[in-house]
Amino acid sequence: MEQDDAKLQFDENGNLRHLLSLKGIDAILLTELLDDAEGYLTAPGALPARSQSLAGRTVGNLFFEPSTRTRASFDLAGRRLGADVLNLDVNTSSRKKGESILDTIYTLEAMQVDVMVVRDASDGVPAYIARNVKDHVSVLNAGESDVSHPTQGLLDLMTIRQHNPDFKNMTVAIVGDIQHSRVARSASEALQTMGIGELRLISPPALAPDAGRFPGARIVDNIADGLKDADVVMALRIQRERIGNLDGVPGIDEYFANYGVSYENMKFAKPDAIVMHPGPMNRGIEIEGALADGPRSVITRQVTNGVAVRMAVLDRIGRIMSTQ
Ligand code: CP
Repeated sequence: MEQDDAKLQFDENGNLRHLLSLKGIDAILLTELLDDAEGYLTAPGALPARSQSLAGRTVGNLFFEPSTRTRASFDLAGRRLGADVLNLDVNTSSRKKGESILDTIYTLEAMQVDVMVVRDASDGVPAYIARNVKDHVSVLNAGESDVSHPTQGLLDLMTIRQHNPDFKNMTVAIVGDIQHSRVARSASEALQTMGIGELRLISPPALAPDAGRFPGARIVDNIADGLKDADVVMALRIQRERIGNLDGVPGIDEYFANYGVSYENMKFAKPDAIVMHPGPMNRGIEIEGALADGPRSVITRQVTNGVAVRMAVLDRIGRIMSTQ
């Protein structure tokens, strides 16, 4: 099924039509998207980059789970490319009256929404929508259960590449709730495609990933081993909304001491290692607040890159719309 979803992303000419997963996106396309995104960055204090490449098109944001960064950045990205952007308020939408997801999609299609940006708590929803929309409509996955968050993976890859483009000689350590993390999944897919030297996934045993979910990664339960000489350290939030039972997960103080990304634990990583976090952060649990705000942190850069990456993705799918 996932292999089919990877193919579903491309039209009959091999152009990107939907972005459902980073699986199936090769190193050439990843690099092109990152290069395009770099072109949308401007200096601090300068006006943001703009174009009219999506003028006349409409982007619909359908977030059936909470979001700040992804939703706001898709909104800004669409507007900065000249599109109309519709932010559906799910809490007051007719989904609350029992309308199906497809009926919601068909309703927006009838209003000439061209791009559906979808976040949902259930597996498979973005691909399901992609299989059912009209030929000219594109679907972008903005976070799917614990499965995939492809634009987050792209912005993380971009941020890592800005620190060091030599993926093959790099160690990336991701620390936290790996089992429930779509961020870790998409980052892992992107990094493996780029030929990452070593990817380590560090978590307490209760939050370790199921076997086979992260091919090529090293699963570690000790932070000293996991962060040893790492070039990049990414902290992840515990996804409480996806965990029925917290049995076996250490309490806050124990968790922070053993799995928190802190000044104390960063002594194991390389002296110039960067600190990442996809947000939202729980300071004092998975990351030390002062470290998140300090010079090694690239967390706000990730957010800035997020707008640029979403502009690059929207522009790319807009190119095939302009030929239809
Ligand atoms: N990183 C991320 O997806 O953040 P939001 O949930 O705020 O969109």
